[in-house]
Amino acid sequence: MWFFITPEVVYGQDAVSRLGQLKGKSAFIVTDANVVKLGFVDKVKEQLSKAGIGSTVFDEVEPDPSLETVKKGSSEMTKSGPDLIVALGGGSVLDAAKAMWVEYAGPGMKAEEINPFTTGMGLQNKARLVCIPTTSGTGAEATWGIVLTDQAEQRKMSVGSRETMPDIAIVDPQFATEMPPGLTAQTGMDALTHSVEGFTSSWKNDISDGLCIKAIQLVFQYLPRAYKNGQDMEAREKMANAACIAGMGFINSMCAMAHAAGHSLGAVFHTPHGRAVGLFLPYTIEFIGDVREELWAEIAYSIKLEVPKGKKAGPILAEAIRGLARSIKEPLSIKETGIPADSFNNSIEKLVDNAFADFQLVTTARVPSTEETQKFLRYAYEGKSIDF
Ligand SMILES: [Fe+2]
Repeated sequence: MWFFITPEVVYGQDAVSRLGQLKGKSAFIVTDANVVKLGFVDKVKEQLSKAGIGSTVFDEVEPDPSLETVKKGSSEMTKSGPDLIVALGGGSVLDAAKAMWVEYAGPGMKAEEINPFTTGMGLQNKARLVCIPTTSGTGAEATWGIVLTDQAEQRKMSVGSRETMPDIAIVDPQFATEMPPGLTAQTGMDALTHSVEGFTSSWKNDISDGLCIKAIQLVFQYLPRAYKNGQDMEAREKMANAACIAGMGFINSMCAMAHAAGHSLGAVFHTPHGRAVGLFLPYTIEFIGDVREELWAEIAYSIKLEVPKGKKAGPILAEAIRGLARSIKEPLSIKETGIPADSFNNSIEKLVDNAFADFQLVTTARVPSTEETQKFLRYAYEGKSIDF
């Protein structure tokens, strides 16, 4: 028995007005200071007040949210007693809100204890969760996954179960227009990595396949446009949709090695999530190689990449992804992210350990050994195509 879980998805221009139709007594808005500064929180409050719902704001979520922030937010939530939680921000904000929701509405559970087999929490009995993304990449509005950072251990934790899926995802492109080009690029690469990994992981399935392929097409077509001109509303809308579609796809099939390695690198060197996973994606395709050749060919066909007769699609797809990344000024190697060689070498064992602690290494279609993972990271540092 397999589940395919999604929230209600409200999308397109002015999707935020869905808030004005909700029923509830009081809302708790989880966000960050930058989103407040952009005036987005006011837009959300305005819609909530149309529904007669008052709101309290918690704007202290940092990038790569820590357990401490989750504890602080959930204790504020407990004081406020909302029946609606509205998360407004990037993936960090949305994930932190899911974790706070568990601690606030669950039966005395800690967010870090939730695993994919946790059921029976009954979170909706106390409050519903609405997620509104302000970036187009993580797809966190449509996933139950929660990534938290244990700062003391320099480790990222992936927690969550299907019960931490938001109730409503509001994908309104107006909130994506203020993303600077660098953030547009990084988060777009995250959406691409979700969809390519979701389409080829060992848990791939009939339900998620179509979503993943569609998201790959949208990213290839619209990410360069959204990067070049942030006010290109068609490109912004298509990328917002792509991120949500990719989220619905991969959360029901899981990601793979680019995410395991990306989480590991991010935990040690604070490389932004989308940048880290995006740079590992071509190496992951090369490493998995022939095990998924048919699927690389399917992806290549879907984005009209020419694969000459007798040639393999995997390396051609990997190069096309490097070309896309280059066109939006994303790094192609760990070295290009600015991490010095000695720091990288000193952390290699930690990086391998972190990658192995990530569940998504196991859902990679070709599961690497410890030695292979170390070699993979060294190749990715130097920008050398995988040949083993
Ligand atoms: Fe991701």
